[in-house]
Amino acid sequence: MQGSANLNVMVKAARAAGRSLVKDFREVENLQVSSKGAGDFVSRADVAAEEIVRDILMEARPNYGWVGEESDAVEGNDPTRRWIVDPLDGTTNFLHGLPHWAVSIALEHKGELVAAVIFDPAKDEMFVAEKGQGAWLNSSRLRVSDRRQMIESIFATGLPFAGRADLPEVLQDLARLLPTCAGVRRYGAAALDLAYVAAGRYEGYWERGLNEWDIAAGILLVREAGGFVEAVEPRADALTSGSLIAGNSAIFETFSGLIRG
Ligand code: IPD
Ligand code: CA
Ligand code: CA
Repeated sequence: MQGSANLNVMVKAARAAGRSLVKDFREVENLQVSSKGAGDFVSRADVAAEEIVRDILMEARPNYGWVGEESDAVEGNDPTRRWIVDPLDGTTNFLHGLPHWAVSIALEHKGELVAAVIFDPAKDEMFVAEKGQGAWLNSSRLRVSDRRQMIESIFATGLPFAGRADLPEVLQDLARLLPTCAGVRRYGAAALDLAYVAAGRYEGYWERGLNEWDIAAGILLVREAGGFVEAVEPRADALTSGSLIAGNSAIFETFSGLIRG
C-alpha cells in the first residue's frame, strides 16, 4: 500500500519503538528472578517506547495534539488532529516473557480515525490502515473472515483481573456465548485482538473497560477490513465508551445480540 506521509511517519515511529522494546524484552527473562525488578524495568521500557514514538511524531507534526498512555495529553495548535498512542499494549505478556504485545498508534482528524498502525515486533507483523484505503498486514490486503456460522467461529475477549468490577458481566457473556461457538481466546493485548479480527483470525472480539489508546488504531483496522465495530451500549461512541464489540459482517448481529443479552 502506498501510504500517506502521516502513515509513513507512524510506521517509522512504531518500528523505532519496537526496536527498543525488543531489546528490553530480551532482558526481561533475566529479570524474572525478582518480580519487582522486572516490573520496574518494564515500566521504564514502556515509558522509553512512548518517548521514542512521541519524539518522532511531534517532530514531524509539531502542531498535532497528543494522547498517550504514559504521558499527559497535549492539545495541539491544530485542535482538529491528535495522535492516540499506546506504546506497549500487552504489558502483562511482556512482563512474563510472552511474545504477544504491540505498539499502537492512531491519528484522529475532526473526530474521525483516519490512520492506524499496530506493530507486533516479535512476529514482525505491521498492521496498517487508512480511512478509505483499506487495511494491510505487511504488504497483504486484509479482509475480515467470511465465516457465517457461530459454531465455526472463534472470539477473543479480555478477562477482568485484579478485582475489576466487570467480572460478573463477562461471566454472563461467556455463559451465553460459549455454547454457541468454537471457542473464546484471551491473548492479553486489545490492539492485537482488533488487528486479528481485521485479519480474519478471529470472527469477533469484545471487551469492557478499555481506554482510547487500547482501541483507536484497531477500530479503524477492523472497519477498513470490512468488519463492524460498535460500543456495547448500542448508541454510545465506540472509541470513547471503552466497551467494544467487533466482528465480521456475517456474524455481527448474532454475536452483538448475545453480548448485549
Ligand atoms: C491492556 C491489554 C489487555 C486488556 C486491558 C488493557 P496494557 O493494555 O490491552 O488485553 O485486557 O484492558 O488495559 O495495560 O497492556 O497496555
Ligand atoms: Ca493497552
Ligand atoms: Ca500500555
